[in-house]
Amino acid sequence: MLWGARGGRPRPPARLGLQLAAGSVPLLVGCGSAPLSMLQPAGPGSADIAQVWWAMLIGFGLVYLGVMALVLYAAYRKRPGAPAAVRWLLVGGGLVLPTAAVLALLLWGIGRGQSLLPTAQGTPVYRVEVRAHQWWWQIRYPDAPGGALYSANELHIPAGVPVDVHVSSNDVIHSFWAPRLGGKIDAIPGRVNVVRLQADAPGDYRGVCSEFCGAQHARMGLVIHAHDADALRARLQQLAGGAHGRLRTGDARAYEQHCAACHSVDPTAESSQPAPNLADLPLRATLGAGTVDNSPAALRYWLRHHQAQKPGNRMPQQTLTDAEVEAIATYLESRP
Ligand code: CUA
Repeated sequence: MLWGARGGRPRPPARLGLQLAAGSVPLLVGCGSAPLSMLQPAGPGSADIAQVWWAMLIGFGLVYLGVMALVLYAAYRKRPGAPAAVRWLLVGGGLVLPTAAVLALLLWGIGRGQSLLPTAQGTPVYRVEVRAHQWWWQIRYPDAPGGALYSANELHIPAGVPVDVHVSSNDVIHSFWAPRLGGKIDAIPGRVNVVRLQADAPGDYRGVCSEFCGAQHARMGLVIHAHDADALRARLQQLAGGAHGRLRTGDARAYEQHCAACHSVDPTAESSQPAPNLADLPLRATLGAGTVDNSPAALRYWLRHHQAQKPGNRMPQQTLTDAEVEAIATYLESRP
């Protein structure tokens, strides 16, 4: 019972306040350093979102306190009957104040939202294409030097430059979200939506799918690396040449027998089946779209047990001999 009735007068138990305060501690504990926190913005778009969030928290927190003060006043006031100011309270507090507050928030929020839109402002703009799949991200750099390049689950962008991400989907509705760099946008089959990101400084950032899209929705992560201009050029050159399928050394037979029908190691072309391009796999931070950290041991374990690590993923579990696992891993890792 929230309100005890003793002596005919409602009494708010102090315990309730303590319980609410104690209950919110676990929520606040989550506010430390977090790679997916939009309250730790790393670019203008997410800074605007964070600003609106704080304004709403503080503004509506004050409204809440004001309403609670009126509730207490109503509960404890001595004189029965309506006070003289009740009409002013109803019109002012019930109509004028909410209308003015919501209108002000709307107009201000629309202004803040401009930084999330792919407007002509802030040109030149860097362009990348992201195509969502169950449960991974296909990446395409249409303007890479020397021609378009493909990769998966990792996005390389220039720091300090607006980046327009052209988002689509291969199967169901997903949602692309890099909380520290900008807003989220739906990935819808047959449609291209554009969201603008920007990282103020070079660094590693995280992205996720933020629309439930099936069993492995939670393992649909994305790593976003923001580089300065030279480092970005070098990294894309690495994708184009250093890890190039045609230059790959090592024994390709096991790879071709078990993997090549779906996966491509050629960064300039996708395979006919939708599966992550593996051109620069050894350079990536994670395997399985953020499922596990990438390492030689993790790659070999993944080849054997990926259906245990990411159940239901679209790669059939094959029975590979130790020699085949080693040959595939070595082939994928081999770079000239
Ligand atoms: Cu894709 Cu959730």
